[in-house]
Amino acid sequence: MEDKRILCVGLVCLDIISVVDAYPVEDTDTRCLSQRWQRGGNASNSCTVLSLLGAPCAFMGSLAPGHAADFILADFRRRGVDVAHVVWQSRGDTPCACCLVNSASGSRTVTLYDTNLPDVTAQDFERVDLRRYKWIHWEGRNAAEQVKMIQQVEEHNRTCPAQERVATSVEVEKPRQELYQLLGYGDVVFVSKDVAKDSGFQSAPAAVQGLRPRVRPGATVICAWAEDGAAALGPDGTLVRSPAFPPARVVDTLGAGDTFNAAVILALSRGRSLQEALTFGCRVAGRKCGVQGYEGIV
Ligand code: ADP
Ligand code: FRU
Repeated sequence: MEDKRILCVGLVCLDIISVVDAYPVEDTDTRCLSQRWQRGGNASNSCTVLSLLGAPCAFMGSLAPGHAADFILADFRRRGVDVAHVVWQSRGDTPCACCLVNSASGSRTVTLYDTNLPDVTAQDFERVDLRRYKWIHWEGRNAAEQVKMIQQVEEHNRTCPAQERVATSVEVEKPRQELYQLLGYGDVVFVSKDVAKDSGFQSAPAAVQGLRPRVRPGATVICAWAEDGAAALGPDGTLVRSPAFPPARVVDTLGAGDTFNAAVILALSRGRSLQEALTFGCRVAGRKCGVQGYEGIV
């Protein structure tokens, strides 16, 4: 029987990336070092990394027919990501991001047009055959609908044998009130540095300890903090930490967090300890920061 897959639900967009060696001054006309189109979006990037790490995976999210969607679909297929759960919307545009990657510092500056394409709904999610998946990850977006999707999985888990349960994780990356309801759902909750700071925490260990009362009992909370690595608190309340593993030169941090999430999810889904998963996440994310895009991260 085919291995059960990991499903990531969230954004896919077209990233139009210009690589520069210095951040441009506003209202100047400069040349960049190189330019490329890349499939982007947190959930979509995590699928790229899962595939590169050898994990069968699938993406669920919205697209609008057109050139951007054609590029995106071809790229999913190139990476071996299952796209059976892509939902074609009849109104709105496929999101597109203008990304400046500064190869001297690795910084990424993104302006994303992400306003008018409807997200997938709990009704769309009802069509997913949950028995095909061992883990489902949600990138926090239309949170109220996503809560209903997670509840569908919880209901499925209540009615199936323990070894067939589907593990769940959520990512709360943007500091938006609407997304904070997701903190109370999922076996694993990823929070970003921005969300941690918005909640008043100045480090990853402080964030996971401080946010623990917000996640459900038995859940794991994880926070990545760029060059400071990451921290996590498991169900038993033990604090786990990993340093970052910086490459010789940091050239491109676009998608570092999505890479980290994918590697952590894969390690946990294979039964690794929280410490092993966190360290693996930081190692793979560190390698990603040393290359443009994702080629060469494994
Ligand atoms: P993002 O901003 O893309 O959401 P983060 O900044 O939280 O991602 O970083 C995720 C992980 O990527 C970190 O835990 C770390 O392991 C790695 N990482 C990010 N930036 C760097 C860096 N400058 N040097 C080394 N590792 C990094
Ligand atoms: C990286 C990323 C990009 C995309 C942007 C959307 O984490 O997913 O691929 O343009 O963030 O916010």
